[in-house]
Amino acid sequence: MLDLRLAGRRPRAARVVALTVTAPPSDDADVPAGLPGDVDPAELAAFLDEVEHSGKAGSVRTWVRPLRPTARLLLAGVGGGAEADWRAVGAALARKAKGEESLTVVLPDGIAPDGVRGLAEGLWLASYRFRLGDDDPPMLRRVNLVCGALAGDRGGTDAADPARSEALAAAVETARVTARMTALARDLTNTPSDRKTPAWLAREVIRAARGTPGLTVTVREPEQLAAEGFGGLLAVGGGSERGPRLVELSWRPRGARLHVVLVGKGITFDTGGICVKGREGMKLMRKDMGGAAAVAAATLGAAALRLPLRVTALLPLAENLLSGTAMRPGDVVRHHGGLTTEVRNTDAEGRLVLADALAYADRRLRPDWLVDLATLTGAQSVALGKRTAALYSDDDALAKDLADAAADAGEKVWRMPLPDDYVDALSGEETDLLNHTDVGAGSVMAALFLREFAGGSRRRWAHLDMSAPAWADSSDAELAKGATGWGVRTLLRWLAGLR
Ligand code: BES
Ligand code: MN
Ligand code: ZN
Repeated sequence: MLDLRLAGRRPRAARVVALTVTAPPSDDADVPAGLPGDVDPAELAAFLDEVEHSGKAGSVRTWVRPLRPTARLLLAGVGGGAEADWRAVGAALARKAKGEESLTVVLPDGIAPDGVRGLAEGLWLASYRFRLGDDDPPMLRRVNLVCGALAGDRGGTDAADPARSEALAAAVETARVTARMTALARDLTNTPSDRKTPAWLAREVIRAARGTPGLTVTVREPEQLAAEGFGGLLAVGGGSERGPRLVELSWRPRGARLHVVLVGKGITFDTGGICVKGREGMKLMRKDMGGAAAVAAATLGAAALRLPLRVTALLPLAENLLSGTAMRPGDVVRHHGGLTTEVRNTDAEGRLVLADALAYADRRLRPDWLVDLATLTGAQSVALGKRTAALYSDDDALAKDLADAAADAGEKVWRMPLPDDYVDALSGEETDLLNHTDVGAGSVMAALFLREFAGGSRRRWAHLDMSAPAWADSSDAELAKGATGWGVRTLLRWLAGLR
């Protein structure tokens, strides 16, 4: 990860320096604070005028200054200075300074802790790369965030204020955990599926949890799953030699009152099974465990931030293949807790594994809140496109809190309906449920199916269908091409705000 530090003073020799410009540029902004000694204010004002810098958040103009100590000056627009603006600044600077050894960002003295958090998250998230090889230079190695208010050497209003210094440092630490956990979710999701078996993914979770007191992991193997009736997970995983697992990752600090259970779909590869997908529809299906990666990373993040609540992540992991042992259309699955489902379409496998995990959460863990994340349907992107996840819940307050957390975190969700009169279509003749209907509304019907398994917890349940947002086809702002780690930021914000 990018080495990012907060300091009160500029390093002596800073070759690449970023200064900020507000929108609309004020007279003040014509000469940003913290000007390096070799930059003439009048010359800078002339440059800003000439390039007609709008100050829009994320727009950067580069002043190349050959042979001068400050050889590159990046003039970064910060818009209105909201957290999201600063996140855009961080992302833009990470890209502009690509390949540089180090970048010094001179912050306005009055910057809010939220601004520092946004800036740091943007820098870290945008400089993420999957699998850096030895001869693969990182985007940018080091960033110094220089805040004069931390130095206390300018006299007057800039005297160092310990409370403020602490708040700024805490903002950087929160950003560090958020970005590190997002990077973990991205790494897991980007990993090719020959390597990423259910057992491998379970081991990676164990590895990431090691060394943090209060974190425990239990992994159920197929034999144990059979003994406890996890029929959905066994049916979906039955077509692969790399058998299914159920990972239970738990953060349990002393004195916690609330218990949140997070469930994440963990299909390590989705071929569709016997109802096989087409070539195009299959090629990115290593991302079909993005929900599991996000809930595991968010739980690890809750532990790293020492959030005072109990969090359990449940990861039903399986590979949906087609083979002589694969489930067939028409098969009947008996889930944990006893509900039965007729498999109408082996490609609607996510809901089969989630059903087991939700029933287990409801019956055995008795959560205060139950939230699942899943790359569940292609229909999600038909309704909402590539960047907006579908949010389902019967609880208005929970839906609002999750939507607010997403908005603050820079991830987008849109609430969708759960129409009770659609539920009848899900009943089978011989079974409680069907895993596929032909009424349309694919994302909605999948959500209604899941709700049946939340039992008494259904009033405290929310579901996020994040099929498309789990992946970025190209680098964009703080997203690097490939896995986005969608949901880690939203969940961490939401968890941190729970009382
Ligand atoms: N993993 C897919 C959903 C998906 C599609 C995620 C595209 C990301 C991008 C899921 O298991 C699936 O195959 N869903 C089917 C359900 C259908 C058979 C009811 C779908 O959406 O087509
Ligand atoms: Mn599928
Ligand atoms: Zn799937």
